[in-house]
Amino acid sequence: MAQKLPKVLITEPIPSKVISFLKQHAEVHVGKKGEFQNEAKLQHKISGYHALLCMLSNPVTKSVLEKGEQLKIVANFAVGYNNIDVDAAESLDIKVANTPDVLTEACGDFAMGLLLAVTRKFNEAESYLRSGHFKGWDPLGFLGMELRGKTLGIVGMGRIGQAFAHRAKAFGMKIAYHNRTILTSEIENSLSAKYTSSLQELASTSDVLSLNCPLTKETHHLIGDEIFEIMPVHSILINISRGSVVNEESLAKALKNKQISGAGIDVFENEPIVHPELLTAPNCILLPHIASATYETRESIGMLAAKAIVSVLQGESDQRIPNLI
Ligand code: GLV
Repeated sequence: MAQKLPKVLITEPIPSKVISFLKQHAEVHVGKKGEFQNEAKLQHKISGYHALLCMLSNPVTKSVLEKGEQLKIVANFAVGYNNIDVDAAESLDIKVANTPDVLTEACGDFAMGLLLAVTRKFNEAESYLRSGHFKGWDPLGFLGMELRGKTLGIVGMGRIGQAFAHRAKAFGMKIAYHNRTILTSEIENSLSAKYTSSLQELASTSDVLSLNCPLTKETHHLIGDEIFEIMPVHSILINISRGSVVNEESLAKALKNKQISGAGIDVFENEPIVHPELLTAPNCILLPHIASATYETRESIGMLAAKAIVSVLQGESDQRIPNLI
């Protein structure tokens, strides 16, 4: 008699190579786009599945995990895993995996692009042209901040922070950072990076402040009124980490009151909802959480998550699955 295959729930359509790979090992169900952003729907569906390949937009709460009485592993299609109750998973003996490394370069490129787009006013200038206002070359039009010689202050100097720093260094920027741990002197030297123990000092001395830390209890609303008050008026905020690291109301106020000169924001506190004050804030590029969105990277993310699932379902030891949390 043929052996019954384990069941895997993939919450959204993902690259087909990943789905085909999982289908070689399991019975796979793929949800519709956005279907499981709702906790109750996920709770209702999860029963009977042995593995969940979920998106960062899926709330994998304690009550969802409790309904997954067969669940052995939750693999997040993302490096950040603040959408998963990891403590609850541990207490229920459900493994959790994420996707480090494979998206580092895509995110480093994206952060650099976003910084250039904000400092050189790509969006405003393009709308000006498209709306028919370009009447001739203007020596005073769309002047922005040059990057060479400016300081990039990075909050959270993990893989992605370092990838951004490498690129910024190539543009002639000075690198400063604030992190839970100090980097090895080898890494610091390769980036010419200077450690700053105080976030306040970093914020008040950086021309660009970039958020590259995970969202945790400690980093929730880390950047709010107090920080915007001390950031230089010409400075720029870049956030490609998680929306909740920033108090969005404070950010909108800081932009409107010209406490800072611009922002590039790829992540929001209540995605897909964007704070209405941010939508009307000046000098602010707002993007729909796309830092890792390249064909290559999204396929690699999916394969890394899928391989962790197959390994766990086949009873592989934890030590041999590098991306388990
Ligand atoms: C994207 O935000 C990720 O965490 O991978």
